[in-house]
Amino acid sequence: MSASESFETTDSSDKTTRRDFLYVATAAFGAIGLAASLVPLISQMNPDAATLAAGGPVELDLGKVAPGQQVVVRWRNRPIFVTHRTTESLQKLRDPALLSLLADPRSSELQQPPYVQNWHRSIKPEFGVLVGICTHLGCIPLFEPQPNPASPAANWPGGYFCPCHGSKYDLAGRVFNGVPAPYNLPVPPYHFLSDTMIRIGENPADSNFEFASIRQI
Ligand code: FES
Repeated sequence: MSASESFETTDSSDKTTRRDFLYVATAAFGAIGLAASLVPLISQMNPDAATLAAGGPVELDLGKVAPGQQVVVRWRNRPIFVTHRTTESLQKLRDPALLSLLADPRSSELQQPPYVQNWHRSIKPEFGVLVGICTHLGCIPLFEPQPNPASPAANWPGGYFCPCHGSKYDLAGRVFNGVPAPYNLPVPPYHFLSDTMIRIGENPADSNFEFASIRQI
């Protein structure tokens, strides 16, 4: 499945891809162009059959995600973008010039659990965890983390670009004004098992947030 293909399609090629429950996509923050490269499934990160059948949580060691890279895992048959943000990219997330361009800079809409309703929309600022499905019509946005001459917008701060109809999100998944997508990218429930290990699909112990309550996935 190409990065720009609708995630919700059900043709046979898509079904084939879905058998690869877990995959990883990486793209360096300094890379030129829109295409993120796909690398094969990492077997040691593959959940067992029972987890697969139950649509249960999946775990990821963030120590495997280098600064400036993004890893994509599948949870409940959805792509989950896990990004290791650099110090520079974190500074951009707080830039008033960027905030003035966003439709919901404070994440007021219910697109995330309450424990990530903050300026970086995550538990730890340096690690972003987002559902990688455009809130317009369900395409998978492209990881476009750096400004470059081919960027989809002037003064592009780095983020996600959906080529289907041109929606743009920053690196916290906050949607820009004036694009077709109406809401920020959803954040799934997750929590830290250790300093670097996260479990996606499960809330921290003090939260009972329901993923289904998100306004638009
Ligand atoms: S599906 Fe992303 S802009 Fe339309």
